[in-house]
Amino acid sequence: MLKITPNEIKLITSYIYDVSGIHLDATKKYLLETRLHAVVEEYSCSSYHDLCRKARAEASKKIERKIIDAISTNETLFFRDSGPFELLKHKIFPELIDARAAKSPVLKTRLRVWSAACSTGQELYSVAIVLQELLGDLSKYSITLLGTDISDAAVAQASSGKYNKFEIERGLSKDKLSRYFTPSGGNWKIKDQIRSMANFRKINLMMPLVGMGKFDIILCRNVAIYFTLEDRKKLFNRLAQTLEPDGYLLIGSTESLTGVSPRFTPKRHLRSIFYQLK
Ligand SMILES: C[S@@+](CC[C@H](N)C(=O)[O-])C[C@H]1O[C@@H](n2cnc3c(N)ncnc32)[C@H](O)[C@@H]1O
Repeated sequence: MLKITPNEIKLITSYIYDVSGIHLDATKKYLLETRLHAVVEEYSCSSYHDLCRKARAEASKKIERKIIDAISTNETLFFRDSGPFELLKHKIFPELIDARAAKSPVLKTRLRVWSAACSTGQELYSVAIVLQELLGDLSKYSITLLGTDISDAAVAQASSGKYNKFEIERGLSKDKLSRYFTPSGGNWKIKDQIRSMANFRKINLMMPLVGMGKFDIILCRNVAIYFTLEDRKKLFNRLAQTLEPDGYLLIGSTESLTGVSPRFTPKRHLRSIFYQLK
């Protein structure tokens, strides 16, 4: 495996930061080598310097996409940390549905949920399953479930709704597995009923969020940890602008907005914390 020099670490980490906001430093030498060696080989790069040069020069951004796919940590699972999904089921969805139905009683009740940095889709499909189980007949609702991620590979898998044995065994009860998934050539595929509730697309959270509209719920979990404090501040200010005034923000169980965004206030329900606009 090609070794990376200290100078190249500076070059490649600054390139990765420029294209994704993911902040890495010299302590990530081994991670850079192990994750990028396949791209280095595929593009016959003589060094990491050469890889950076080719990636920056290439108009099609193909190398950039491969680097982002390789470097992004897509670790996720169905119903990750369980608490937020209990919160959605027992507090957030019932409250929102009542509020929206009271506002426009004759129209379909509108709900917009965004899983920002959705990885391979398990988070958003978990939300879809909660909604399906809570509401049963969805015809009275106008539901938008949007999943976005910077990684093309992650977005493609999320859109396919296909999971291997390892992925399917993480976070799903036997009951949910048989109810919402079908076996598919050694893997599992989420049933169309749930698949069709969700849409996925590529969005870089470091870029301005234009044309997104407002969401009732934003899940932005386990991604801001990869950004600098300055970038986290900017991100949560942008998210504040895309959240309905009475909307809900859910972040990762080990994350906090203290010192990050003055626009949100933390609230507790049972064991879970959620954020609302001040
Ligand atoms: C650890 S996963 C979290 C997935 C899911 N939210 C969860 O908590 O299980 C982090 C995801 O953030 C994505 N990511 C990293 N930087 C990003 C950026 N600038 N914009 C959008 N997504 C990004 C990665 O591709 C990865 O899929």
